[in-house]
Amino acid sequence: MTKRPKVTLVGAGNVGATTGMWLMARNLCDLVLFDVVEGWPQGKALDLAEAAPIFGHTVSVTGTNDFAETAGSDVLVVTAGSPRRPGMTRDDLLKVNNDVISDVVTRAVAVSPEAVVIVVTNPVDVMTFVAQRASGLPHPRVFGMAGGLDSARFRTFLAWELGVSAKDVFGFVMGGHGDQMVPLVRYSTVGGEPVEKRLSKEAIDRIVTRTRGGGGEILQLLKNGSAFVAPAAATAEMVEAVLLDQRRTIPVVAYLNGEYGQQGVYVGVPAVIGKGGVEQVVEIDLQPDEQAAFDASVAAVRGPLAVLGF
Ligand code: LAC
Repeated sequence: MTKRPKVTLVGAGNVGATTGMWLMARNLCDLVLFDVVEGWPQGKALDLAEAAPIFGHTVSVTGTNDFAETAGSDVLVVTAGSPRRPGMTRDDLLKVNNDVISDVVTRAVAVSPEAVVIVVTNPVDVMTFVAQRASGLPHPRVFGMAGGLDSARFRTFLAWELGVSAKDVFGFVMGGHGDQMVPLVRYSTVGGEPVEKRLSKEAIDRIVTRTRGGGGEILQLLKNGSAFVAPAAATAEMVEAVLLDQRRTIPVVAYLNGEYGQQGVYVGVPAVIGKGGVEQVVEIDLQPDEQAAFDASVAAVRGPLAVLGF
């Protein structure tokens, strides 16, 4: 009998629990939801498990407050952390989440030393760096989720403008997961044709701006919470790519060791994702203006890293 892969969701908030839902729908791994709040991960897991008879899922879903029960995980998805609270500066949040991520990643990896770690907690480019340091794992085995989400938003907006299905719209976003992210218009296509041939510059500029502010737009509408359905869908896609060794090319927060002229930083770039995590950072050709935009976005990630003393 083959053993099903085991995935632990470290943090069972909206993004963590919804990632569990998307993964359960794929029926490909057992799930453990971990959270520090007593009862919370157990309740979330029970709610997920009770949907199994309706959808015909056969995986096991459990919740725990004890890292021992997460032992032997193949993938750890880290969504734990604090949102920004009133009176907190971005730097305050950075320090709080630095401590949370360092702590949970150290404890989770101690019992799952073979795991691939996917970080979702914001600011994700910085927290992925923190997680790799805390884990002591090789860089390819620790990476972060942002580009899949930002690219999905970009593709959605392009599809709406074109009046076609987003399924056939290709496009991706590089750089840090912030206002300076870089949607790569030149590499975006619909049915294989560059979108620049079909859309005006004005429309494309509007879509680029909306993509950059995609997270903020939802935050502003919800007022008291941020997006979690699309973020979780993008996370589940990455978990699947690892578990099934799909070698998908997905923009992720990956460690750069000279690629794109950058060294010693985690930031969004296209990468081949398989069972080892980041199997390869894909270096696409950038024009000088695209490289400059990417460099500016990387600089915005290095700032907070310096605040943390890295
Ligand atoms: C977003 C936040 C969660 O982009 O980073 O929706």
